[in-house]
Amino acid sequence: MSTSIRRILPAVLAALAVFIEPALQTCSSHTDCSLNGICQDNKCICDPGWRADDCGELDVQPTVKYSGLNLSDTGTSTWGSRIIHGPMDKQMFHMFVSEFPGGCGLDYWAPFSRIARAESRTGPLGPYNLVEEVVGAFAHNPTVVFSAKDGLYALYYIGCPMVLPSSCSHMQFTCGKGNDANGESGISLATSPDLRTWTFHGEVFSTGGGGAWDETVINPSAFVLEGGPGSDDSILLAYRGCPYNCHPYPPYGPELISIASASSYAGLYKRVEGGPLFKDENEDPFLWRDKRGNYHMLLHSLEPEGGFGLGPKVGRHAYAASWDGPWTFGSKTLAFNTTAFFTDGTSIDFHRRERPQIFFSEDGEMTPLYMTNGVQEKGKAGSYTLIVPIGQEFKKFEQSLGISEAKHDEL
Ligand SMILES: *[C@@H]1O[C@H](CO)[C@@H](O)[C@H](O)[C@H]1NC(C)=O
Ligand SMILES: *[C@@H]1O[C@H](CO)[C@@H](O)[C@H](O)[C@H]1NC(C)=O
Repeated sequence: MSTSIRRILPAVLAALAVFIEPALQTCSSHTDCSLNGICQDNKCICDPGWRADDCGELDVQPTVKYSGLNLSDTGTSTWGSRIIHGPMDKQMFHMFVSEFPGGCGLDYWAPFSRIARAESRTGPLGPYNLVEEVVGAFAHNPTVVFSAKDGLYALYYIGCPMVLPSSCSHMQFTCGKGNDANGESGISLATSPDLRTWTFHGEVFSTGGGGAWDETVINPSAFVLEGGPGSDDSILLAYRGCPYNCHPYPPYGPELISIASASSYAGLYKRVEGGPLFKDENEDPFLWRDKRGNYHMLLHSLEPEGGFGLGPKVGRHAYAASWDGPWTFGSKTLAFNTTAFFTDGTSIDFHRRERPQIFFSEDGEMTPLYMTNGVQEKGKAGSYTLIVPIGQEFKKFEQSLGISEAKHDEL
C-alpha cells in the first residue's frame, strides 16, 4: 500500500461508515432485541445483564475459583443448582443441588444422584458447604421457587427411591411411565415453609401418553405467576419432553421443550396447546418472566456444535410475549458457551456446561446477577457446580450484603 493511500484510508473508511450506517441497523422492534432490551433508533439498548446486537448473550463475568460447589478433590460430583437467598438470615444463601458421592462421576448420575442442601455465608458465589440430604437417591434435577400466596417453597425434581448398587455401575430402572431405562420420567414436588422441613407430594406431572413427543418428561423449571390479571394460572412448569426412553438407539431424542400450567403448585398441570414450543433440540429449560411481563428461557442446546461435549455452543435463549407462545428461539446469538473466565486471569474451556439457572436481583427489575451450571472439565469423570456473576449489578448486590470486592480474590 502506498503511503498516500495509507494516509487517506481512515478518512475514506469514515466516509464509507457514514454511507453504510443504515445497513448496521440491528432492530426495528423490541422483539429484535430478544425482549431483553428496547429498540431505539434502530439499535438495541440491552437491559443490564445482557449484551450483543440482539441482547441475546448473557453478560457473563469472570468468577472466582471454587465458586459454587466444587468437591472434585473428595470424589463427589455435583451437577446444577438453584440458589435461594435466606428468608430470615440475609447473610445466608442456600443451594439445592444434585450430588453423587462415591467417586463414580457424571456417567453414573442415574441411579446415584440425590438432592442436597448446601449453605454459603460468604455471598451468593460461595463457596458452599454441604449441609444435609433433602431427597435420597435416586433424585435429580432440583429447582426451587417461592410461592408468596402459599408461604411455601416448592422443590421440583425427578426420581424415586432406589436401592443403590454397591459399586459404580449402571442399573435399569423406572420411576414412571415413558422410561424404563434409567428413571428419567415424571416430575415430583416437595414443599417447605423454611427450606429445612419438607412435605413430599409425589409425582405432580407425568407422561404425555403412549407415542407422544413428550412420553418422558424431565428437567422441571417452575415460575410462580401469583395469578396474573384475568388468569387462574398461578404456576408454570417448563420441561423437556422426549419419546419413549428418549429413543434407546441413535438417533436419540428428539429432546424438545414445552410448558404446563396449574392453579396450584400441586397441580393439575395442563399442557400448553400446540407443544413443543419450538423445533430446536434442547434440554434443561430455565423459565422466568421479566419486569415488562415478557417470558424467557435459558436452555442447554443440543445443536451439533453444542450438546454433550461436542462443541462450545451450549447456551441458548428463547423468548415470548406470552407464556403460551408463540416462542422465538434465539438461534443467532449464543447465550453462553463452554468457556468460563476467572478473576485470577485463567480460564477453563469445559467439556460440558449445562443446567443453567439464574439468581435475579431482588428490586423487581429481574436483573440476572448470577448463573449456576453443572460443568465437567475435559478428560475428567467428575463434575461440579459453577457460579458466575453476570453484568455489573451483582457488585451493588454484594455491597448491600457487606461483601467487599477484595473478598472475591481471597476465596
Ligand atoms: C475444581 O476443583 C478441582 C480440584 O481441586 C480443580 O482442579 C479445579 O480447578 C476447580 N475448578 C474451579 C473452577 O474451581
Ligand atoms: C466463548 O465466548 C467468549 C466470549 O464471550 C470467547 O472469548 C471464547 O473464546 C468462547 N469460547 C469458545 C470455546 O468458543
